[in-house]
Amino acid sequence: MEERFKLETERLAKSWMRYDRATLRDYLVEDVEDPRINIQSILTRHFLIERLFGEQFKALMEQELRFSMVMNWLLRLLKKPVNAGQLQAVLDALLEGQDNAEGLEIPSYISETFSTLRLPNYICDLLNWAPVETTEAPIPEYLMSTFQAIWHEVLAGEQSQSISVLEPACGSANDYRFIEAFGIARLLDYTGFDLCEKNTRNAKQMFPKARFKVDNALEIDAEDDTFDYCFVHDLFEHLSIEAMEVAISEVCRVTRQDLCIGFFNMHDGDQHIVKVIDDYHWNKLSMGKTKAIFERHASVVEVIHIDKFLASKFGCSDTHNKDAYTFVIRI
Ligand SMILES: C[S@@+](CC[C@H](N)C(=O)[O-])C[C@H]1O[C@@H](n2cnc3c(N)ncnc32)[C@H](O)[C@@H]1O
Repeated sequence: MEERFKLETERLAKSWMRYDRATLRDYLVEDVEDPRINIQSILTRHFLIERLFGEQFKALMEQELRFSMVMNWLLRLLKKPVNAGQLQAVLDALLEGQDNAEGLEIPSYISETFSTLRLPNYICDLLNWAPVETTEAPIPEYLMSTFQAIWHEVLAGEQSQSISVLEPACGSANDYRFIEAFGIARLLDYTGFDLCEKNTRNAKQMFPKARFKVDNALEIDAEDDTFDYCFVHDLFEHLSIEAMEVAISEVCRVTRQDLCIGFFNMHDGDQHIVKVIDDYHWNKLSMGKTKAIFERHASVVEVIHIDKFLASKFGCSDTHNKDAYTFVIRI
């Protein structure tokens, strides 16, 4: 590896090793980042399920995206002063087909989703769980896990040929935990790696039987075409542009078929906006330029701008991160 990338690797490792293990385990799976309701994590799980079963579960996937929009809307609502009576009023309005509950506007994607569900349903439960006095308690786990339970049950009866999957920058099994809990992991030959040893230690502690190791996206320790598929979340913005180009060529080199790549900070402009913070980067990547880098190694690069995708598919215009993109790539 070139000297400059060795130095960058050292600085990247230092950047993540400064956190303690408990922080690393929790900070990327909370609130809107919770992979049960984070659209990009959901799209990654759908990417894997489609590779295993084709189009079979399209309808369930659409319902899960709707669930995520409902949960994100409710989370936003709960951050404002809202009381249990107002949540009950929202439910009454939904039952009566109204789009306004005591002055609170109900987005059309909420009422449309409600109308696709039989009664009673998870939206009734979500709007009823709060005790009368307060809405400050967290949303109960069993409601957060609504689709985890459904997928686990649906996939339990399914068999498929195992596929090999690589996840670079896997953190503390942040997404893998849910890939496992949703019943997908047993169908995969999964390998996760991260530069930060505290992360892989956390991951191994949680999943002693799964394969987690320390490795570097700038020089992946694997032969060409080792893995059928690869997915990555939130790595490339943290690399210098030169290192990102190396990492992109590396993930494409070790992948035989398709990749699903999540970006949290991307824009439609012509230029990357480079921002150095201490020992790492927090770049805003140019979608076009990043796509062009992938196109050097891949035959098809499908770009999904999460905000536009939800707006065009569901009329949802209030995604929490307007700069989030997912690329689905065919080598
Ligand atoms: C923002 S976190 C994302 C973690 C996880 N993918 C997620 O979305 O929750 C970035 C991760 O990339 C890892 N990382 C940074 N540079 C890396 C490199 N060169 N090779 C492998 N992992 C790296 C960090 O240790 C950290 O776990």
